[in-house]
Amino acid sequence: MTTGDTTAKVIVRDVDKVFDVRGRRHFQALRNIDLDVRDNEFLCIVGPSGCGKSTLLRMLGDLDTPSSGQVRIRRDSTARPLSAMIFQEESVFPWMTVAQNAAYGLKITRTWRGRQSEERIDDLLGKTGLSAFRSFYPHQLSGGMKQRLSLVRAWATNPELLLMDEPFAALDEQNKALLQQELVKLWEAFRSTVVFITHSLEEAVLLGDRVAVMTSAPGRIKETLDVPFPRPRVVTSLRRSGEFNQLVTQLWDSLGDEVERARSAEMQKLTRRRDVMPADAIG
Ligand SMILES: Nc1ncnc2c1ncn2[C@@H]1O[C@H](COP(=O)(O)OP(=O)(O)OP(=O)(O)O)[C@@H](O)[C@H]1O
Ligand SMILES: [Mg+2]
Repeated sequence: MTTGDTTAKVIVRDVDKVFDVRGRRHFQALRNIDLDVRDNEFLCIVGPSGCGKSTLLRMLGDLDTPSSGQVRIRRDSTARPLSAMIFQEESVFPWMTVAQNAAYGLKITRTWRGRQSEERIDDLLGKTGLSAFRSFYPHQLSGGMKQRLSLVRAWATNPELLLMDEPFAALDEQNKALLQQELVKLWEAFRSTVVFITHSLEEAVLLGDRVAVMTSAPGRIKETLDVPFPRPRVVTSLRRSGEFNQLVTQLWDSLGDEVERARSAEMQKLTRRRDVMPADAIG
């Protein structure tokens, strides 16, 4: 996508983020980030740990601001919340039942529409296999079920932009595979603009329309790759195809350099710290 594309839902231009560390502005987390997300696109972002993925996502969710540059999200409806975020860590409320948790997003964004909202939640709970657990509390659910519930709660609000920060990272492989398929189905049924962060290159290729690769810190967008696989997608068969593995390998090659770079930067930092430490402190 060319810069300046006016049809983009999200436009990030020349964004830098510098964090204050002990009152001094000196940690540059993001540099010159340029990124467009198209309407109803499923964009995945991958990058080495610490490269600024969550920082970027937080800016898209208006939970943080850039030090310089612009983040613009086109608002199309006043009846829908602009964005909803799903975090890696569990974010369901332990004192609410499944049904109450599912309705919470709609209530807090004041987009509850009575019967219509109840039907939407019923539909989503059905699609994610949670209908029978409506009156259960989170401690009675598995980790995978809780993450599905987070998905339902965010999706129920029908946000213009759905932001997900490694939502399946803590799940075992089987649960992860099930949820990936459920997410693909949900997205194909409802279509909305999604930005999804993941450490898993396979997951990025299974789910996304495009994958953006970030450099090691300070994070920049190194490249974006199109994922050409048609929809509807069946995750299990896609995983077995040669084209799928080819694309994952291409991503590995791109990301591998960055992981190496991030590692050697960490080692240098450690060496520098040892240089300034008194010898007896090193031991
Ligand atoms: N509030 C903050 N103050 C100072 N530094 C911060 C703050 N938030 C993040 N950072 C630093 O910015 C860098 C990017 O952090 P971020 O959480 O965005 O990385 P990430 O790519 O999401 O990493 P991971 O893949 O491990 O989740 C890190 O070095 C982190 O320590
Ligand atoms: Mg993160």
